Amino acid sequence: MKKVDILVLGSGVAGLSFAIRMAQKQPQISIAVLSKTISSESNTSYAQGGVAAVWDDQKDSYQKHIEDTLDAGDGLCDEEIVRIVVEEGPSRVRELIDWGTRFDKEKQDEQYDLGREGGHSENRILHYKDITGREIQRALLAKAKELPNIEVLEHHFAIDLLTQHHLGRWVTRLSPNIECYGCYSLNLKTNRAERILAKATVMASGGAGQVYKSTTNPTIATGDGMAMTYRAKGRVRNMEFVQFHPTALYNPAGENPVFLVSEAVRGFGGILKDAEGQEFMQKYDPRKSLAPRDIVARAIDQEMKNSGSDCMYLDCRHLEQEAFLAHFPNIYEKCKSIGIDPFEQMIPVVPACHYFCGGIETDAWGQTSIHRLYACGECTSTGLHGANRLASNSLLEGLVFADRIAKDLDQKLGEWDWKEGIPAWEATGSQDPKELVLITQSMKELKEIMSSYVGIVRSNLRLERAFSRLRLLYEETEELYNKSRISPALCELRNLITVAYLVTRSAAIRRESRGLHFTTDYPNRQEYLDDTRL
Ligand code: FAD
Ligand code: SIN
Repeated sequence: MKKVDILVLGSGVAGLSFAIRMAQKQPQISIAVLSKTISSESNTSYAQGGVAAVWDDQKDSYQKHIEDTLDAGDGLCDEEIVRIVVEEGPSRVRELIDWGTRFDKEKQDEQYDLGREGGHSENRILHYKDITGREIQRALLAKAKELPNIEVLEHHFAIDLLTQHHLGRWVTRLSPNIECYGCYSLNLKTNRAERILAKATVMASGGAGQVYKSTTNPTIATGDGMAMTYRAKGRVRNMEFVQFHPTALYNPAGENPVFLVSEAVRGFGGILKDAEGQEFMQKYDPRKSLAPRDIVARAIDQEMKNSGSDCMYLDCRHLEQEAFLAHFPNIYEKCKSIGIDPFEQMIPVVPACHYFCGGIETDAWGQTSIHRLYACGECTSTGLHGANRLASNSLLEGLVFADRIAKDLDQKLGEWDWKEGIPAWEATGSQDPKELVLITQSMKELKEIMSSYVGIVRSNLRLERAFSRLRLLYEETEELYNKSRISPALCELRNLITVAYLVTRSAAIRRESRGLHFTTDYPNRQEYLDDTRL
């Protein structure tokens, strides 16, 4: 058994920036940051476009960033949260720079080079070439290493949150005062499940893109935190709003994850076209290739269906080559590696699952519906994104809420102690899952179900089909879980089935089309407006 003052589940931008802020505020406490693989493997590391923040206050303003965020969110953002994130964002980005993060500057100038992405009315994206996330992850890990009270535990897989349930109490979704005391974690080096007790726990476990067949998210993105919180009877919100990025690189060879062609390429002048080289976005939105993501992804999906094509194209042939290479060296190299020269050929692109706008419900201080459990980053629903996230607002949200949680915990941590009496992990099943193929096959089926029936375009019939197939997968997987020795693959499958259920259920509840949720049975927006809570 391990005891720490604060347990952080996740080593991406949310978990690490929280740990750093907290360790600076209270150098005497112990903070453990868990990572299920190596600490640098996270969605954060894959971020390309950058961080949105009002930087140039001559041209830009908080009000413009707020309006762009609200507009993209299609009526469902929490305006107070949007204001908080936009107004506190620039200070958090300055801290990131103080901690050693590099962002590109304009040539022969000390001004930052501000990029543009879909839905933004101004240039406000700070970036480091097309590998902004890798740079942020590097700087945060280096900073965390400097702080002696942060311990990063790699290859530790969080299995379940500890609550009164583990003390033998009956806990339901309606129980008041559910409390979190830490988690059970599988130490993948010893293959033993351990108790980690904490006075407070911060969930920062990222998204769940792996629930779809084609995703830009790395394989760690299996919704573990959302599923663990839901199992612990915590509240999740707006799970139906899954963002599909319009321009993943179409590679007929198939890849997991699929490679992203950043929206910044369209901000730089890249134009969406069909196979004949004709522009089509003017049919869908006056902002054309730079319309918000939900509109562009649906437009590409529609054009692919109309023409029977496997992909649409991003034309960059007219762009200034030297500048393109300076901004997008990684994208250029990747295209070349599959035989596409972006200066000679149009880049083939398809939509792919990219981001979960919904997640664990939190208040303005990152507190979840479970006491002593906070949540931060992509696993949350803070109210910032509404029905559709504005590009490059995600890293920003993680930074702002990490800071807010640290401020709140700075006041409250002293009131809490470790919980006595939590039993050691009891292996419910002792067999090794002999037939690993059962897990991989179920995973394939799950992704197929979600991609076919709960993708960009939905309908009542498709959702019903998804439900009946998910139910079977759920029953089979629970049976396997109960008789098998615990393993990450089995836990991830179980977690993704929970996420799939939450997305499908929320989609069925929302009888309208709004933002990222489009259903042919209710193609219009309803006047009545509310969040979906499960
Ligand atoms: P992550 O960075 O995903 O970190 C999750 C952490 O949780 C990992 O350390 C993982 O090991 C750990 N974890 C998960 N489950 C467990 C478990 N069971 N036990 C222990 N540890 C666990 N956003 C922007 O704002 N701008 C961009 O330009 C941008 N570009 C993107 C490009 C790509 C290709 C992708 C995939 C995303 C992009 N995003 C971008 C979104 C953004 O990167 C993510 O939303 C954000 O980085 C999420 O950060 P996080 O800290 O919440 O989670
Ligand atoms: C991108 O670079 O297109 C991704 C930006 C984001 O997801 O915010």
